[in-house]
Amino acid sequence: MSNIQFSQGVSNINISGIRKLFEAAGPNAINLGIGQPDFDTPANIKLAAIKAIEDGFTGYTPGLGIPELRNAISDKFKRENGFEVAPGQVIVTSGASEALYITAASLVNPGDEVLIPNPGFLSYKAIVNMLNGKDVSVKMKEDLTIDPNDVLEKITPKTKALFLNSPGNPTGAVSSKEDVKALAEIAEDKNITIISDEVYEYFIYDGEHVSPAQFTDNVVTINAFSKSYSMTGWRVGYLGAKGDYVGQIIKVHQYLQACASSIGQKAALEAITGPQESVVIMKNEFEKRRNVLIKGLHEIGIECVMPQGAFYAFPKVKNCEEATMNLLKNDVVVTPGTAFGANGKDHIRISYASSMANIEKALEVMGRVL
Ligand SMILES: Cc1ncc(COP(=O)(O)O)c(C=O)c1O
Repeated sequence: MSNIQFSQGVSNINISGIRKLFEAAGPNAINLGIGQPDFDTPANIKLAAIKAIEDGFTGYTPGLGIPELRNAISDKFKRENGFEVAPGQVIVTSGASEALYITAASLVNPGDEVLIPNPGFLSYKAIVNMLNGKDVSVKMKEDLTIDPNDVLEKITPKTKALFLNSPGNPTGAVSSKEDVKALAEIAEDKNITIISDEVYEYFIYDGEHVSPAQFTDNVVTINAFSKSYSMTGWRVGYLGAKGDYVGQIIKVHQYLQACASSIGQKAALEAITGPQESVVIMKNEFEKRRNVLIKGLHEIGIECVMPQGAFYAFPKVKNCEEATMNLLKNDVVVTPGTAFGANGKDHIRISYASSMANIEKALEVMGRVL
């Protein structure tokens, strides 16, 4: 067995360092490292899933997803995001994660370049590398949003796509309409695809969410029920795109996944068409916590750009890995900025998807330790 040659793409990527860190945390640690809402899935959504099981809705569904859900997603894109894709141009996936992978797999040849935000969500680089593509880092501006000028500078004849993530993980930053429009124009001009990861769309406290698909057809828009409806474990996401994209992407989806979970899709249908109060409740609670956290950090003397969205703050902390270990020894778990790319080196990521009491305790520890 010892001389099995694994694929270069997979051999070269690393297991996520974040997990190891969490595993090192003590039983009483306050976990501000987590990337999921600390709310239960709303009851109406759970009931829809129970009903699906009781009704025997347990077989494969069409590869694209159940038509009612694709209709609802197509309506949502039109109503909330200002662009039109037909229900036949929507694929329901196993979370945004699958949507990100199958989109990239349909575009990237070995050696192709893909622009990724640095710091950015870990999966982007890993996906590109698994496909034997080359990840090319794009810098953030002072406000931690992606810099369209740097995007333009990094484009070469080999560039295939750009991952855009607003509101962003790990920064919580929300790109301005102006910048999203500029990026859309660049994509069109240079014939590249924007893979727009909009999973934090519903958690914006200042500013507005702008989908690049409003401005160009060179976009695959990706979203999920995971964060918006506190359904991370259900594994339901989706993508929508005009033109030829879905015709190619569906092939990867069919052979990789066949279809998203039938029960999950029924739950997702209730999430998107049912009452939306739970989203508002979560959003309001996150906003309160954000305000307390940022005020607290500033009082300690830690610099932090006010995050406009998601549930992350990305304050400036030198020697972030050492600082993270020191916090861990004091039972506070955060994530070093380096986990999200080299440009995150002078930052830590704090998730405020944790109770106000935890945030207050963590602030007290940070005041002592940092
Ligand atoms: C920016 C971003 N995109 C995608 C995902 C994955 O979403 P899903 O759980 O729907 O696969 C995450 C999860 O942390 C994320 O932060």
